[in-house]
Amino acid sequence: MNAHDSEKVVGTLLARGYSQVETPEAADLVLYNTCSIRDKAEQKVFNRLQNFKRQAGKGKVFGVLGCVAQQEGEKIFDRAPHVSLVAGSASYTKLPEMLVQLEAGNRRVTGLSLDTEETFDTPFTRRDNPHRAYITIIEGCDKSCAYCVVPFTRGPERSRTSESVMAEARRLAESGYSEIQLLGQNVNSYRDPSPEGWDFATLLARIAEIRGIRRVRYTTSHPRDFTRAIVDAMDANPVLCNHVHLPVQSGSSRVLAAMQRLYTRDDYMRRIDWIKSSRRNMALTTDIIVGFPGETEADFEQTLDLLDQVQYDSLFSFKYSPRPNTSALAMEDKIPDEEKTRRIMILNEKQRAIQIRRNADLIGNVEEVLVEGYNQATGQWIGRTSQNRTLNFTHLTGDAASLAGVYMHARVTRAGPNSLAGESVANVF
Ligand code: 5AD
Ligand code: SF4
Repeated sequence: MNAHDSEKVVGTLLARGYSQVETPEAADLVLYNTCSIRDKAEQKVFNRLQNFKRQAGKGKVFGVLGCVAQQEGEKIFDRAPHVSLVAGSASYTKLPEMLVQLEAGNRRVTGLSLDTEETFDTPFTRRDNPHRAYITIIEGCDKSCAYCVVPFTRGPERSRTSESVMAEARRLAESGYSEIQLLGQNVNSYRDPSPEGWDFATLLARIAEIRGIRRVRYTTSHPRDFTRAIVDAMDANPVLCNHVHLPVQSGSSRVLAAMQRLYTRDDYMRRIDWIKSSRRNMALTTDIIVGFPGETEADFEQTLDLLDQVQYDSLFSFKYSPRPNTSALAMEDKIPDEEKTRRIMILNEKQRAIQIRRNADLIGNVEEVLVEGYNQATGQWIGRTSQNRTLNFTHLTGDAASLAGVYMHARVTRAGPNSLAGESVANVF
């Protein structure tokens, strides 16, 4: 989401006649896009701003964008007086106006209002990847998970019209993008604000029908709003990649209630059962937080047990990090950092063993991959499967032309915990 915000900001600047330079040293305007989901990011931004100012910052204009900007607001001007622009993502629709003020020499420009019904749609997005394109379909979040800063930094939930999403997807297909990744904090809470009133499953199905689109992914889904209709849509059209990222956060219903996640372990497992009973072989991935206040050893063991039960293909694990404004900040029974570290290590060890087994099961399979690039060091092409696994493969036809962006088939011959290796096969499909 952040990477795509940067693409939109860059596109907006280019459309106004700015040009992008290779290094911050060569820039007249330096914008930092920041994240505050966990606590390290904020410190990092101030360190970078300070270091850069000292080394090479003379005469440059600096701006801080994103969630740290939203969270810290005008305090940033006090801590880093050389900053001229502070704007959160909910204000980016006003970015052109803010640029006018900067260009006029204004040295305290802010965009901090969260009071918006608009999404940051821009026809000027400058995309980093020539084959895969992100499309934001919904921004912000109306939930209130006890640990999460997002509702305070990205503002209220707002969906784009299906018409504007479809038009962007068609434009991208026409300009050669074959993979679309739909984005939103709760992407599956999408609700078309126009009279058509499409839900997320309908939008998915319609995007998958656009000629030229070969793969559609989406992230991130909230379990509460994950419907059977989404699985049905995926079942019906293989253009919808067979991968679901469904963050569970904890395997304990008691902790889920304290986190205000709006589902129990059983509710979550019902969704997993739908996904697993699909005709297609779906990959499942998740996010887990360890050490939420009050998480007991028994709660943690339930999370480990959930890993055994679900058999995820991959997961992101995080130590609970206290965030400003969130309700978990005031909770008792904080877990010491050493204990969080112990738990996350046990969790990751268990998941690693699961991944080794699951990846090994794929040896012998032929998979379709979208080629992402070439690794000089290993002499392998880097491919990505529909399940979102990396499959590094050799291709011995002797042609040196770049295969990046091409769809090919490769047989899996070896498997590690985090990737597969194999060789290309003739495209007989
Ligand atoms: N501490 C630790 N992890 C967090 N996440 C969100 N907020 C916090 C926090 N305060 C994790 C969640 C979420 C992912 C994007 O980041 O697991 O799904
Ligand atoms: Fe944060 Fe919860 Fe909203 Fe996800 S659903 S962005 S975790 S508040």
